[in-house]
Amino acid sequence: MREREFDVILWGATGHTGRPAARYLHRQYGGNGRGESGRPLRWAIAGRDAAKLQALKAEIGDPLLAVFVVPGADRAAADHIAARARVIVSTVAPGARYATEMVEACVAHGTHMADLCGELHWLRRMMDTHDAQARANRVKIVNCCGLDSIPSEYLVHHMQQVARETFGEYCSHILNCFSYGRIAVSGGSFASGKGVMEAVATDPLMSEMIANPYSLNPPHQLAGPQCPDLDRLRFDADLGQWIMPFPLGQINARVVRRSHALLGRPWGEDFTYMEAKLAGNGVLNRLKAQLETRLTRWFVEANPTTLGGRMLHALGPKEGSGPSDRQMAKNGPCGFRAVGITPSGRKLKGWMHTEWDPGHGGTAAMLVDAAYCLARLEPQLEAETGQTGGYLTPYLAMGEVLRQQLAQHAGIHWGAEVAG
Ligand SMILES: NC(=O)c1ccc[n+]([C@@H]2O[C@H](COP(=O)([O-])OP(=O)(O)OC[C@H]3O[C@@H](n4cnc5c(N)ncnc54)[C@H](OP(=O)(O)O)[C@@H]3O)[C@@H](O)[C@H]2O)c1
Repeated sequence: MREREFDVILWGATGHTGRPAARYLHRQYGGNGRGESGRPLRWAIAGRDAAKLQALKAEIGDPLLAVFVVPGADRAAADHIAARARVIVSTVAPGARYATEMVEACVAHGTHMADLCGELHWLRRMMDTHDAQARANRVKIVNCCGLDSIPSEYLVHHMQQVARETFGEYCSHILNCFSYGRIAVSGGSFASGKGVMEAVATDPLMSEMIANPYSLNPPHQLAGPQCPDLDRLRFDADLGQWIMPFPLGQINARVVRRSHALLGRPWGEDFTYMEAKLAGNGVLNRLKAQLETRLTRWFVEANPTTLGGRMLHALGPKEGSGPSDRQMAKNGPCGFRAVGITPSGRKLKGWMHTEWDPGHGGTAAMLVDAAYCLARLEPQLEAETGQTGGYLTPYLAMGEVLRQQLAQHAGIHWGAEVAG
């Protein structure tokens, strides 16, 4: 294990996910901090704005909490904290604009990194550029450590374990649906999504890459069985409800497919995964879901390089805006429901549930627990997963160790049983 001044430095600590992440670090792992066992967790906060960082430190109430001013896209500033920590946790957004230098610094200094980034165009570029060096330096870079994509990836792995134990075979298809909870979009999330739309609109190769369901797979494994993203409402007989496109499903599904590919496709060459959102029953729910699908598509497909697209996107949340703490608390609980089918037709139901809101509070807890595992439980992680470095998905990097951590500390649970 690397000996460093800090176990974890949280960069972007003053944002809408950063603040709940800082509070959770303080509450869960102690005031700068009395960790659960052994020596205390040593952590610090970082961000671009000194005054906001001091206000957060005062709110947390720990006079010993170290603070670093670290602007985005600044290699020297990134080096300054990457060299001091075992793990850099980033909630800075958009990653494509501000976090490339932090990835470079982490790889160079042998520092693990966990973030929430789902910006497909940037992730692909970063993986292609840094994966080999990260492996060589035994650095784990773990993106998508929030609502995207921990609930989905962990649910699929859990269902496959239960399918194997119960039926003696894996599911060859899993449909997973976001089923309850309200997702609030902050200025940072919107800017991150807009960056992907701009890449799609201005670069035909990138547009083709992003449309590929296997676009996050390792190079030379960028193809697989047909499983396009759901693009319209349909009735699902197994779930007994309408299902509709789920915008976050695009990234979650690609993370699940990458996870499968990195493991050597144990669930079979024909394994397919699809993610959607449950829309309920009856005519009224169907009409509501149709309207929501149209509006979302209109927004997401608007070309940000045209005047019309820019005008439409100007209606989205502005930089710095986002839900209040009270709104966040009202957006939970949240959960997923899934159904899997094996090659011989056996069916399994799966679920994930937490009392947290899906967007910020729950995401902050998942990100912090992931960072704790990377910083403090490295020997257990490596003994279980065999992974020592490179661009990894959350399950590949942390396996069952993180599931236990999330169940014990954050109250996040998964389950699976044979379908009636
Ligand atoms: N995976 C998930 O489930 C999930 C859930 C929620 C969010 N997210 C993602 O997490 C990211 C953050 O979301 P959020 O809701 O927390 O957004 P946010 O509140 O807008 O936070 C963005 C953060 O980036 C910082 N930042 C912006 N420009 C910067 C610059 N030039 N230099 C340094 N820092 C800069 C902001 O600093 P200030 O505080 O000084 O403004 C803020 O801390 C987004 O990419 C979002 O899509 C993912």
